[in-house]
Amino acid sequence: MPECPTRLPEPRAGGTVHRSTPRPLARLRALVFTVAATLLLANAVQAQAPGQAAIATAHPLASEAGAQILADGGNAFDAAVAIGAALAVVEPYGSGMGGGGFFMLRQAGEAATYRFLDARERAPLAATADLYLRDGKADPRLSLDGPLAAGIPGLPAAWVQLADDYGRLPLTASLAPAIRLAREGFPVDAVYRERAGWRLEALQRDAESARLFLLDGAIPPLGHRLRQPELADTLERLAVEGNAGFYAGPVAERLVAGVREAGGIWTREDLAQYETVLREPLVFALPDERRLISAPLPSAGGVAIAQSLGLLERLDWRAAPPLQRVHLVVESLRRAYRDRGLLGDPDFIASPVDHLLSDRHLDQLATSVDPRRATPSATLPPAPRWWEGDHTTHFVVMDADGNAVAATVSLNLMFGAAFTVPGTGVLLNDQMDDFAADLDASNAYGLTGSRANLIAPGKRPLSSMSPTFIEGPQGLASFGTPGGSRIPSMNLLSALAYLGGEPVPAWAATRRYHHQYLPDVIQYEEGAFSASERQALEAMGHRLEPLERAYGNQQIIYWDKRTGAVQAASDPRGAGEALVIPASDLRTAPASR
Ligand code: DON
Repeated sequence: MPECPTRLPEPRAGGTVHRSTPRPLARLRALVFTVAATLLLANAVQAQAPGQAAIATAHPLASEAGAQILADGGNAFDAAVAIGAALAVVEPYGSGMGGGGFFMLRQAGEAATYRFLDARERAPLAATADLYLRDGKADPRLSLDGPLAAGIPGLPAAWVQLADDYGRLPLTASLAPAIRLAREGFPVDAVYRERAGWRLEALQRDAESARLFLLDGAIPPLGHRLRQPELADTLERLAVEGNAGFYAGPVAERLVAGVREAGGIWTREDLAQYETVLREPLVFALPDERRLISAPLPSAGGVAIAQSLGLLERLDWRAAPPLQRVHLVVESLRRAYRDRGLLGDPDFIASPVDHLLSDRHLDQLATSVDPRRATPSATLPPAPRWWEGDHTTHFVVMDADGNAVAATVSLNLMFGAAFTVPGTGVLLNDQMDDFAADLDASNAYGLTGSRANLIAPGKRPLSSMSPTFIEGPQGLASFGTPGGSRIPSMNLLSALAYLGGEPVPAWAATRRYHHQYLPDVIQYEEGAFSASERQALEAMGHRLEPLERAYGNQQIIYWDKRTGAVQAASDPRGAGEALVIPASDLRTAPASR
């Protein structure tokens, strides 16, 4: 059994560890933290490896698929394939073979190594910056519904890579549970019905999607067995042939023909050229020898989380009473989200991330925070606006050796583009809407875009998805959730609950509020603030806007390296399942939710 790391992971040569080096007094504090942590570490009994596995996903059938693969001798990477593929079948509204996503990979070893597998969709080669402009104005329907909205999918290539380069089992084994679920069907649950209801009209407009995901044009009843035989065939072909089973051959031919017949612009070359990218994760040093390991570009999420944590350390968030802490979190988010306008696909733009995470920039931002008053966003130098959809999926799995995968995968809006390519069962994404369709005018949601995120052939749209780990000598924690623009703020709040010493279930359950620079409001879940807290925030100059519904679906695992305990939690707002699986019995009861 490989040993767990007693040293913290370093990025590969050429990678950068961004440091949350606070101002002089806080610097001293950080040093004290470091010394204390080193002494504690020297005395601590070091766990060798977790010795137990853990899984948290948004759907019990996906958690079970992962547990089955672990029981069959697979590692975390095999289980990630099984879970991701099962989710693609049972949550067609959240992710799928026609979409993409990000995988944060932790390879256990003497010192664990992290890699970020970027399987984000790419713009078709025929895409141009004005793709969605009609009469000079962005037409949101074109980037949201139908095949023109679809980027070239990355998820199938990610599964192949995980199996080939990291897994222990063949793809035929790790895809088997998903193939069975697609062929034999799964019972429609309340979540499915709700999501299908939200996207009903778009699904009704596409005959193939309506045939597969509705029943006689209506939302299927509870318990209806939803079968996807064409998807089972496509999955089987991928399992047997690898990438050639999807990105070439008859499936690719059908995908391209189906897309083009319905007005899309894909070519065979787009599919043949698709490649995932293995990137260095964004690594940001925290006090107590902890490190944030989160999504790099083309995700804006990791940068926002790191900037916010860097600002909060400078603003001494730990010493702040609860309401003051909310104010500091909001002011940090406001500044971090403002900087997002500079971000885009790093293969197309010069990355400003080193600058955004530099001491100089963070010190400057921190000094601009008034501890007593909200800073109106309009008084900060402007940055381009943006908005994103609200549906995707996240899962996390760790094996008994300490290998782990946290993945956020997506079709963008619910049921993606609501367009299924006939004969393939592949529902396409509408991730192209994450690009800026226009600079000055509106995108789908009436907000303007940024130059760094304009459409270009082969480019990846900027994302908020940010699968995240925090690792230190104390333990390994993982966070992640769907939720579009609110993903980074949710991950930040869960991380703060962890760093603030709260118990694991509270990291997922923690109250949620959000600020994204513009609109200049704090959005919050009903019940997140008491009446007196709302009044106090308003008195500081904040505008508050209650949200109609709870949001987010955090999937969390924690391995306490000092006690050896492993815990998992699935957001109480969702219908997911968290499992902790002792090595002796890989199929135990669900962990606390
Ligand atoms: O990549 C992104 O940031 C979005 N397309 C993700 C969409 C999302 O999280 C919707 N979730 N509920």
